[in-house]
Amino acid sequence: MAEYWYIAEGFEERVNSYLVDNGSSEVDLMFTVPEKDFNTAGKGSSEVKNLLKRLGVSSEVLRRIAVASYEAEINVAAHSKGGVMHSAVHDDFIHIRFEDEGPGIGNIEQAMIPGFSTADELVRELGFGAGLGLPNIKKNSDAMHIVSEHGSSTLVEFIIYFS
Ligand SMILES: Nc1ncnc2c1ncn2[C@@H]1O[C@H](COP(=O)(O)OP(=O)(O)O)[C@@H](O)[C@H]1O
Ligand SMILES: [Mg+2]
Repeated sequence: MAEYWYIAEGFEERVNSYLVDNGSSEVDLMFTVPEKDFNTAGKGSSEVKNLLKRLGVSSEVLRRIAVASYEAEINVAAHSKGGVMHSAVHDDFIHIRFEDEGPGIGNIEQAMIPGFSTADELVRELGFGAGLGLPNIKKNSDAMHIVSEHGSSTLVEFIIYFS
């Protein structure tokens, strides 16, 4: 089982205290992400964006959340047998978790390299597969965590603060 952690500079304390505390969320949203269904994939991300907009989250933060969640959602559809997106909206941040049915990521460090992609022909024809999804999730997140291994499920989760 391999694991990847990223915590943006200056967020270590906030993230670590959340991980220890696991403080309760205000709103929880759950979406299924079916395999290779690019009409449904993206719905979860856009629903979450709409909700946060109504809650008054700034447009700059909204943009980062939308980019990160869309990339992760598309990855579940493109690279796995399908999975679920779980969003927990807290007072001052959102924690979004994607868990899929495998087949997992054999080498997470390699998957994080900009431009690296194993996307198949169908996925490429639809305009995905540039190999920038995971790097973009990292770039737009305050914390990012991946747990996976070849032949197993993948967990991709991230946290983004509202201010
Ligand atoms: N949920 C996932 N399940 C299995 N493999 C994944 C998953 N997400 C990402 N990957 C692997 O990581 C690679 C890089 O992902 P990403 O940076 O989003 O690029 P892209 O999706 O364009 O290929 C993918 O090509 C795939 O090999
Ligand atoms: Mg991708």
